[in-house]
Amino acid sequence: MNLKIKNVELKSNLILAPMAGLSDVAFRNMCLKFGAGLVCTEMVSAKALSYKNKKTEDLLITLDHEVPKAVQIFGHEPEVMAEAVKNPLLAKFDIIDINMGCPAPKIVKNGDGSALLKNFDLAEQIISACVNATDKPITVKFRIGFDEKENIAVDFARMCERAGAAAITVHGRTTKQGYSGIVNYEAIKQVKQAVNIPIFANGNCETREDYENILKITGADGIMIGRASLGSPEIFEEILSGKKPDVNKFEQIKYHYETLMKFFPEKAVVLSMRTHLANYLKKEYKNTKLLIELLKMNSYSEIIEKLRQNML
Ligand SMILES: Cc1cc2nc3c(=O)[nH]c(=O)nc-3n(C[C@H](O)[C@H](O)[C@H](O)COP(=O)(O)O)c2cc1C
Repeated sequence: MNLKIKNVELKSNLILAPMAGLSDVAFRNMCLKFGAGLVCTEMVSAKALSYKNKKTEDLLITLDHEVPKAVQIFGHEPEVMAEAVKNPLLAKFDIIDINMGCPAPKIVKNGDGSALLKNFDLAEQIISACVNATDKPITVKFRIGFDEKENIAVDFARMCERAGAAAITVHGRTTKQGYSGIVNYEAIKQVKQAVNIPIFANGNCETREDYENILKITGADGIMIGRASLGSPEIFEEILSGKKPDVNKFEQIKYHYETLMKFFPEKAVVLSMRTHLANYLKKEYKNTKLLIELLKMNSYSEIIEKLRQNML
């Protein structure tokens, strides 16, 4: 039987991480097509939602067949977070995830993201308020601690479960570590042993071997994959089936641009696609001259023509 988060059944136990600026609607759908069990928007400010901020609302664009999908919200005020959960724009999402792991200084300074690892009481109030505001599963994504001095992962996970979280994702690094350095899978294992809700292990899963090892070490129910999916949405199939799927990178890139252009102006899409483009080309097309030329272009037709000449 497939893994479930409360009443939501996942297609597999390998799920896509929220990534600011990158987990857009097109990318999420490609990952789902290749077997991702669940996809998630990038983090969305609960406060900005309360102001009906257009840029924030744009992050909530989805496709009809995008199932199952989660939205991730961040903030530090329980009432504002509960209001966000009830926002009609969130109604189409199956799961609502709360960000308690973001290490970015401007987020932490504001008391959001991983600042909440230092404030269990407030974190608990936020989770409870969100749980009480909806019947949907509320999940929490957090890190193993703020710095190496304290490993709070087990206590924090127990608090999340007590407050009503339906699942948790643990990034096995501290806030201080940012995105590099050793991932502490032992700490994730301790979390798994301490709570009864599904646990997703996160950090540095790049291959089928990693996937098998991380599941073995941690005993986690599933794995969340972030950076390794960039430029390679097919990684979900590759890891789950153990076989490299046959993909056409040109068609992937074309789908990515054209899906985004259904919703956003060409200029904005060309800009937001730059990091994705670099990722798509990094493995098979290590031609830096080509990438430099592409990154200077401002129109989609110019970019796609150049890609056609070099990739087909
Ligand atoms: C560019 C970028 C943006 C990210 N944005 C978010 C975010 O919006 N919310 C979140 O919870 N984590 C965010 N993360 C963290 C990832 O979800 C994930 O926890 C981290 O990259 C570790 O997983 P990985 O080693 O598989 O990449 C971001 C990471 C990257 C690289």
